[in-house]
Amino acid sequence: MAALLTGAVGLTAVAGCGDSRSERAAARGRAVVAGQQPRAKAPDAPPGPRSIDCGKVACVALTFDDGPGPYTETLLNELHAANARATFFMLGENVGHFPNAVHRMAMEGHELANHSWSHPQLTTMSSADVRSQVQRTQEAIRKASGGVTPKLMRPPYGAVNKRVNSAIGMPEVLWSVDTLDWKYRDTARAEKVAVKEAHRGGIILFHDIHKTSVAAVPTVLDGLKKKGLTPVTVSELYSTDKPLQAGVAYAERMPPAPPKPAEPVAPTRTVRPPSKSPTSSTRPSSTAKPPSKSATPTQPAQPREAGGEGQPATADGDTRH
Ligand code: NI
Repeated sequence: MAALLTGAVGLTAVAGCGDSRSERAAARGRAVVAGQQPRAKAPDAPPGPRSIDCGKVACVALTFDDGPGPYTETLLNELHAANARATFFMLGENVGHFPNAVHRMAMEGHELANHSWSHPQLTTMSSADVRSQVQRTQEAIRKASGGVTPKLMRPPYGAVNKRVNSAIGMPEVLWSVDTLDWKYRDTARAEKVAVKEAHRGGIILFHDIHKTSVAAVPTVLDGLKKKGLTPVTVSELYSTDKPLQAGVAYAERMPPAPPKPAEPVAPTRTVRPPSKSPTSSTRPSSTAKPPSKSATPTQPAQPREAGGEGQPATADGDTRH
């Protein structure tokens, strides 16, 4: 997997092609009017994933929660201008209000993901209700996007337990950089925190339902670039790591385990009696699995109560974030 940024670099010059997008839309309309037979591959199918090996490239995943909303298309324009892809953890109840935004997300290569139907704390619900929250949202996204089925779920507030994990039945994505954008609604602050705390393998949490957050994104993208970080979707971030597992939470992609210090195994290998398999005798058992922290990151880097999903706010009456 030596491919580096194959897609990302090649498309830099396409920034700001709103006109060509409308031209494509108009062209699709004309094709329908002319009664042409559908082609084997729909002309507006989502682009495939890019070949980015985030085991070698310094990647960071930008994620946007709780939308889509009235500022989501502005965000899509910003991402397009920077040739950046992001992941949208959407609420099913919002999807039907902004189907064009959801469709654009899919067509422009972003990752569409599930954030429940109505943002409840899933641990307070029955398993059947949790499943309903997830599945209704899957269906809404599939419908609005033209057939994309999300593969990832972010539980509201990061609140899960073993039972909820089982009911969700999808890999769960938390975060490692919390901008607290929902709390401060301060563009300059969001820009500063996101760029400063961004790190290789990290997952940055924003909320695209806030105008102040969307306004921060161009500066954030610029700052990430200056730090040598490539913005990717969550699935791209993990594409060359071990496959994500249902019911397991991921907060960031851990760097590869450092090389093991030299150990005096070579001399003993040749004299050891063949009581063990060759592989177990040549390598210490610790190589069977990376350090536990990098194997299955199950907690965000920050305490959950400090998470961007945060506690339901009370001071300003905003019970969501
Ligand atoms: Ni949320």
